[in-house]
Amino acid sequence: MKTPLNTEFTLRDLLEEQVRDLHDAEISYLDFIFRVSDRLEHPELRKNVDDTIISTRENIDRLVQICEILGVPPAGVDCAAMEGLIREAKEHTKEYESGSVMEASFVASAQRIVHYEIAGFGTGKAFAKKLGLNEVEKLFDEMLSQSVSIDKQLTKTATGSWFSDGINDLAVSNGPLAE
Ligand SMILES: [Fe+2]
Repeated sequence: MKTPLNTEFTLRDLLEEQVRDLHDAEISYLDFIFRVSDRLEHPELRKNVDDTIISTRENIDRLVQICEILGVPPAGVDCAAMEGLIREAKEHTKEYESGSVMEASFVASAQRIVHYEIAGFGTGKAFAKKLGLNEVEKLFDEMLSQSVSIDKQLTKTATGSWFSDGINDLAVSNGPLAE
Protein backbone atom coordinates (compact mmCIF):
# COMPACT_ATOMS: atom_id res chain seq x y z
CA MET A 1 0.00 0.00 0.00
CA LYS A 2 1.38 3.39 -0.98
CA THR A 3 1.61 5.87 1.85
CA PRO A 4 0.28 9.25 0.73
CA LEU A 5 2.69 12.10 1.42
CA ASN A 6 0.12 14.09 3.34
CA THR A 7 -1.50 14.21 6.74
CA GLU A 8 -4.62 12.39 5.56
CA PHE A 9 -2.94 9.05 6.32
CA THR A 10 -3.61 8.49 10.00
CA LEU A 11 -2.94 5.90 12.71
CA ARG A 12 -6.29 4.36 11.87
CA ASP A 13 -5.18 3.79 8.25
CA LEU A 14 -1.98 2.24 9.54
CA LEU A 15 -3.97 -0.06 11.86
CA GLU A 16 -6.24 -1.13 9.00
CA GLU A 17 -3.24 -1.97 6.83
CA GLN A 18 -1.55 -3.92 9.62
CA VAL A 19 -4.68 -5.91 10.44
CA ARG A 20 -5.02 -6.97 6.80
CA ASP A 21 -1.31 -7.82 6.67
CA LEU A 22 -1.68 -10.01 9.79
CA HIS A 23 -4.75 -11.69 8.29
CA ASP A 24 -2.68 -12.71 5.26
CA ALA A 25 0.20 -13.78 7.55
CA GLU A 26 -2.03 -16.08 9.60
CA ILE A 27 -3.52 -17.72 6.51
CA SER A 28 -0.02 -18.41 5.17
CA TYR A 29 1.14 -19.80 8.52
CA LEU A 30 -1.85 -22.15 8.80
CA ASP A 31 -1.15 -23.48 5.31
CA PHE A 32 2.51 -24.10 6.21
CA ILE A 33 1.62 -25.90 9.47
CA PHE A 34 -0.72 -28.26 7.63
CA ARG A 35 2.00 -29.08 5.12
CA VAL A 36 4.59 -29.97 7.74
CA SER A 37 2.52 -31.36 10.65
CA ASP A 38 2.45 -35.00 9.43
CA ARG A 39 6.23 -35.19 9.63
CA LEU A 40 6.42 -34.21 13.29
CA GLU A 41 6.52 -37.10 15.77
CA HIS A 42 7.56 -35.75 19.15
CA PRO A 43 4.35 -35.99 21.24
CA GLU A 44 4.77 -32.63 22.96
CA LEU A 45 5.56 -30.93 19.66
CA ARG A 46 2.49 -32.51 18.07
CA LYS A 47 0.42 -31.07 20.92
CA ASN A 48 2.02 -27.63 20.34
CA VAL A 49 1.18 -27.90 16.64
CA ASP A 50 -2.44 -28.87 17.35
CA ASP A 51 -2.72 -25.89 19.71
CA THR A 52 -1.14 -23.65 17.07
CA ILE A 53 -3.66 -24.80 14.44
CA ILE A 54 -6.56 -24.02 16.79
CA SER A 55 -5.19 -20.63 17.80
CA THR A 56 -4.25 -19.63 14.24
CA ARG A 57 -7.79 -20.43 13.08
CA GLU A 58 -9.16 -18.38 15.96
CA ASN A 59 -6.79 -15.54 15.05
CA ILE A 60 -8.07 -15.53 11.47
CA ASP A 61 -11.64 -15.28 12.80
CA ARG A 62 -10.65 -12.47 15.17
CA LEU A 63 -8.85 -10.56 12.40
CA VAL A 64 -11.94 -10.88 10.18
CA GLN A 65 -14.01 -9.54 13.10
CA ILE A 66 -11.60 -6.60 13.48
CA CYS A 67 -11.86 -5.87 9.74
CA GLU A 68 -15.66 -5.84 10.11
CA ILE A 69 -15.41 -3.37 13.00
CA LEU A 70 -13.02 -1.19 10.98
CA GLY A 71 -15.09 -1.55 7.80
CA VAL A 72 -12.28 -2.85 5.59
CA PRO A 73 -11.97 -6.09 3.57
CA PRO A 74 -9.61 -8.63 5.19
CA ALA A 75 -8.04 -9.71 1.88
CA GLY A 76 -5.87 -7.64 -0.42
CA VAL A 77 -2.64 -7.05 1.53
CA ASP A 78 0.28 -9.50 1.24
CA CYS A 79 2.55 -10.10 4.21
CA ALA A 80 6.02 -10.32 2.65
CA ALA A 81 7.68 -10.95 6.02
CA MET A 82 5.65 -14.09 6.76
CA GLU A 83 6.28 -15.27 3.20
CA GLY A 84 10.03 -14.96 3.85
CA LEU A 85 9.86 -16.66 7.25
CA ILE A 86 7.94 -19.57 5.76
CA ARG A 87 10.26 -19.86 2.77
CA GLU A 88 13.20 -20.17 5.15
CA ALA A 89 11.31 -22.64 7.37
CA LYS A 90 10.48 -24.82 4.35
CA GLU A 91 14.11 -24.83 3.19
CA HIS A 92 15.34 -25.89 6.62
CA THR A 93 12.74 -28.59 7.23
CA LYS A 94 13.45 -30.00 3.76
CA GLU A 95 17.18 -30.00 4.42
CA TYR A 96 16.75 -32.19 7.51
CA GLU A 97 14.20 -34.65 6.20
CA SER A 98 13.13 -36.23 9.46
CA GLY A 99 14.11 -36.90 13.05
CA SER A 100 14.91 -34.67 15.96
CA VAL A 101 17.15 -32.23 14.04
CA MET A 102 14.30 -31.53 11.62
CA GLU A 103 12.00 -31.08 14.61
CA ALA A 104 14.49 -28.73 16.32
CA SER A 105 14.65 -26.79 13.07
CA PHE A 106 10.86 -26.64 12.92
CA VAL A 107 10.68 -25.27 16.49
CA ALA A 108 13.32 -22.64 15.61
CA SER A 109 11.21 -21.52 12.63
CA ALA A 110 7.93 -21.63 14.57
CA GLN A 111 9.44 -19.43 17.29
CA ARG A 112 10.66 -16.87 14.75
CA ILE A 113 7.11 -16.81 13.38
CA VAL A 114 5.47 -16.56 16.80
CA HIS A 115 7.76 -13.65 17.69
CA TYR A 116 6.65 -11.91 14.50
CA GLU A 117 3.03 -12.50 15.59
CA ILE A 118 3.74 -11.15 19.08
CA ALA A 119 5.22 -7.96 17.58
CA GLY A 120 2.24 -7.53 15.25
CA PHE A 121 -0.45 -8.25 17.85
CA GLY A 122 1.27 -6.05 20.44
CA THR A 123 1.47 -3.13 18.01
CA GLY A 124 -2.15 -3.65 16.92
CA LYS A 125 -3.25 -3.63 20.55
CA ALA A 126 -1.36 -0.39 21.23
CA PHE A 127 -2.79 1.29 18.10
CA ALA A 128 -6.35 0.20 18.99
CA LYS A 129 -5.93 1.49 22.56
CA LYS A 130 -4.71 4.85 21.27
CA LEU A 131 -7.71 5.06 18.94
CA GLY A 132 -10.19 4.10 21.69
CA LEU A 133 -11.26 0.96 19.81
CA ASN A 134 -11.96 -1.16 22.90
CA GLU A 135 -13.30 -4.28 21.18
CA VAL A 136 -10.38 -4.31 18.73
CA GLU A 137 -7.95 -3.87 21.60
CA LYS A 138 -9.54 -6.83 23.42
CA LEU A 139 -9.30 -9.07 20.35
CA PHE A 140 -5.62 -8.15 19.87
CA ASP A 141 -4.98 -8.85 23.55
CA GLU A 142 -6.46 -12.36 23.19
CA MET A 143 -4.23 -13.07 20.18
CA LEU A 144 -1.20 -11.69 21.99
CA SER A 145 -1.80 -13.86 25.08
CA GLN A 146 -2.21 -17.00 23.00
CA SER A 147 0.98 -16.34 21.05
CA VAL A 148 2.96 -15.71 24.23
CA SER A 149 1.64 -18.98 25.64
CA ILE A 150 2.54 -20.94 22.48
CA ASP A 151 6.02 -19.40 22.51
CA LYS A 152 6.53 -20.65 26.09
CA GLN A 153 5.26 -24.12 25.20
CA LEU A 154 7.67 -24.31 22.25
CA THR A 155 10.59 -23.29 24.46
CA LYS A 156 9.69 -26.05 26.91
CA THR A 157 9.37 -28.62 24.12
CA ALA A 158 12.76 -27.65 22.75
CA THR A 159 14.69 -27.45 25.99
CA GLY A 160 12.92 -30.14 28.04
CA SER A 161 12.41 -30.26 31.77
CA TRP A 162 13.82 -32.00 34.84
CA PHE A 163 11.74 -35.04 33.93
CA SER A 164 12.07 -35.34 30.17
CA ASP A 165 14.45 -34.63 27.31
CA GLY A 166 13.62 -31.77 25.00
CA ILE A 167 13.94 -31.89 21.24
CA ASN A 168 17.29 -30.09 21.47
CA ASP A 169 18.64 -32.85 23.75
CA LEU A 170 17.59 -35.49 21.23
CA ALA A 171 18.95 -33.47 18.31
CA VAL A 172 22.46 -33.38 19.77
CA SER A 173 23.01 -36.82 18.22
CA ASN A 174 19.89 -36.73 16.02
CA GLY A 175 18.62 -39.34 18.46
CA PRO A 176 15.35 -41.27 18.47
CA LEU A 177 12.26 -40.13 20.29
CA ALA A 178 12.24 -40.70 24.03
CA GLU A 179 9.82 -43.40 25.16
FE1 LIG B 1 3.67 -8.48 7.56
